[in-house]
Amino acid sequence: MKILKTIAEMRAARAGVGELGLVPTMGYLHEGHLSLAARARAENPTVAASIFVNPTQFGPNEDLARYPRDLPRDLSLLEAAGVDLVFTPEPAEMYPAGFDTVIEVRGVTDGLEGAVRPGHFAGVATVVAKLFNIVQPTRAYFGQKDAQQSVVIRKMVRDLDLPVQVVVAPTVRESDGLALSSRNSYLTPEQRAQATVLYRALSSAKARFDAGERDAETLRHAMREALTGFTADYVSVADAETLQELDRLDGPAIASLAVRLGSTRLIDNLLLG
Ligand code: PAF
Repeated sequence: MKILKTIAEMRAARAGVGELGLVPTMGYLHEGHLSLAARARAENPTVAASIFVNPTQFGPNEDLARYPRDLPRDLSLLEAAGVDLVFTPEPAEMYPAGFDTVIEVRGVTDGLEGAVRPGHFAGVATVVAKLFNIVQPTRAYFGQKDAQQSVVIRKMVRDLDLPVQVVVAPTVRESDGLALSSRNSYLTPEQRAQATVLYRALSSAKARFDAGERDAETLRHAMREALTGFTADYVSVADAETLQELDRLDGPAIASLAVRLGSTRLIDNLLLG
């Protein structure tokens, strides 16, 4: 496995290899990331991963400084997963002095995470576009856990005609339903026990949907009830492509929520239909 720290090194390693799958990450890897690496390994002759805690997608009062990091562990996990190339740039390599360009994907970033975290998706879209330009993947792998992020990236790829196939892989969960996330490491044992409320709330909406309920407000109400006593930033039942809140479910939809447990904010979602 080659570790590349500069854009020039990454470009040189990429030159001369054919189809390549990229797994972009912010490190502190878990089974969710490794499932993306396994999928990329199965679908591409060469697999690259990036580890970069992207400062531009964190708001001023967010957790950039305390975001968990463990590069040696990440590298050994990626090596065991059969990854060929790992791109681990420093912030100054990605954002040198004078960096002034931002990619803003409008519409699908208005609600949900975009409403609570202004500027977040501009940071994500910009860094992902840079990673695509630097690594030039044939396919890029993202987790369904960050549902809105996947919608934003797909839209950016479509709007800007980027020659990348975006693959979105299912959320990996603990046995009690908690979606894997690097931020789960912030939870105290008590909060960790409470964190199952996200999946319980989503499952209660999904159970009603599976039983034939198509009124979106009824499904949101079911989630809000399950979240009694918790602080939710939003509870949503939205169109899976436009992310507009729905009145009735006539096509693919997504139930999603964001819940605060102490200073930790967790998000999760389930597809409906
Ligand atoms: O999902 C993440 O880990 C990040 O948002 C990504 C896509 C690597 C961009 O920094």
